[in-house]
Amino acid sequence: MQTKPSKIVITAGPTREPLDPVRYISNFSTGAMGYALAAEAEAEGFDVCLITGPVALSAPLGVRKIDVTTAEEMLKAVEQEIEGSCCVIMAAAVCDFRPVKASVQKIRKTGGRLRVELEENPDIIASIGRREGLLKIGFALETRKAVRSALEKLQRKQLDLIVVNEISGANDPFGEGKKDFLIMGCSGERDEYKALTKRELAAEIVRRVRKKKGDDG
Ligand code: CTP
Repeated sequence: MQTKPSKIVITAGPTREPLDPVRYISNFSTGAMGYALAAEAEAEGFDVCLITGPVALSAPLGVRKIDVTTAEEMLKAVEQEIEGSCCVIMAAAVCDFRPVKASVQKIRKTGGRLRVELEENPDIIASIGRREGLLKIGFALETRKAVRSALEKLQRKQLDLIVVNEISGANDPFGEGKKDFLIMGCSGERDEYKALTKRELAAEIVRRVRKKKGDDG
């Protein structure tokens, strides 16, 4: 008898936080990492739900895609899809802040400065908390003290694994190409990877999901 494939939720891309009807705050995320993970997990037989911010990529064949724009929308979609999932991988670059109030009308120039007040968005992966049978994997994009800061995130967000990208002159984590990564786990494991493509990293992450789920054989 065929068993139902395990469901995995993957987030990808940036979020956009509107300032007015024509402008937003966002970041440089291209979605490449989350889409590579979705393709890899699908190829490995998982039932993949890809929750994605606006990117210029097509969903891999066989993957169910949910489009969102803001962090709030991403949170809602994750909360809805997490039920019955064995794993959530937050590869999305969620905007930490949003304008307190998006202007209904287009903001006009006034010849001086514009002051915009921002408030914090919810932390999606942290808000899920620990759940029986749910593996939580996060990413950390760091410009300094990468290991210390990622370890702090691993604990604060109650993650099982964190994948660390360090932004330095030689290692630009955005888009395609080979990058260096570090994977740290909640049991103290720490592994460095040099010059991997995102698809290769995705394969390594999915392999670890399988192993942690005891699905290997
Ligand atoms: N994340 C999230 N919700 C947020 C911000 C981040 O779920 N509002 C997730 C990201 O998808 C990623 C992990 O948390 O998997 C770490 O993201 P990062 O931006 O590095 O961490 P922050 O908590 O934003 O910390 P800081 O900006 O202080 O470095």
